[in-house]
Amino acid sequence: MSVHETVKKVTTHVLFEMKVRGEKIAMLTAYDYSMAKILDRAGIDILLVGDSASNVMAGHHTTLPITLNEMIWHASSVVRAMQRALVVVDLPFGTYQGNSIEALSSAIRIMKETGAGAVKLEGGAEIRESVERILSAGIPVMGHLGLTPQSINKFGTYVVRATEESEANKLMEDARLLEKIGCFSIVLEKIPASLAKKVSAEVHIPIIGIGAGPHVDGQVLVTHDMLGITQDFSPRFLRRYHNLYDEISTAVKSYISDVRRLDFPNEKEQY
Ligand code: KIV
Repeated sequence: MSVHETVKKVTTHVLFEMKVRGEKIAMLTAYDYSMAKILDRAGIDILLVGDSASNVMAGHHTTLPITLNEMIWHASSVVRAMQRALVVVDLPFGTYQGNSIEALSSAIRIMKETGAGAVKLEGGAEIRESVERILSAGIPVMGHLGLTPQSINKFGTYVVRATEESEANKLMEDARLLEKIGCFSIVLEKIPASLAKKVSAEVHIPIIGIGAGPHVDGQVLVTHDMLGITQDFSPRFLRRYHNLYDEISTAVKSYISDVRRLDFPNEKEQY
């Protein structure tokens, strides 16, 4: 029987086993209790409390404004729903770059106040000290390379990354480094499929792709995008499994109409 069918609780070790056996890892984002419960019971392996909450939940244009306290609020709501999935929480912008002591205290707050299983940080060699300090406290770290949305002001655009040889080489080196210092997994966002394939073949920790092609160890999408709740974001890599925006809108219009024509509540819906 496959690993994902037998485990009661997904751990970093389980993910490693899945990579060794060639079993693909399924990861989605979650920011609240009710959605997290549906995703967990459906059998998702990893739930990422992504700083994409800044866009999806709070309506900001970038992931930069979300605070550590807000991430902790989202993450503790998600953890309360958890039975099986591993919960990974993004360290938000400004809580780990350039100061490894602050990075450790941010990661400790997340672990202590939410009960999550791991944290995720964007970047490679430039955040090495922060990653090492967090790891030294026994906190599992997932890396994130390629398109790193917290650096949007440096790059100025969300186009595909690492198409040039020099950037591809740096990404490869960063992936090797993150593995060497002890990260348990890496997200690769929006890079050529051929490069993601190379990284996945060379490093021994699970590589999770988003817009990184099929030759990686798992996939992640933003739940609100793949369910079609958000409509204004349609990159090539996104497969929409539903059109919940329209479904919810239709249901709400029916409700409004029922209220207006005194059809709701009816005889059976009152005391
Ligand atoms: O914040 C997020 O949702 C992410 C995923 C896109 C990987 O980092």
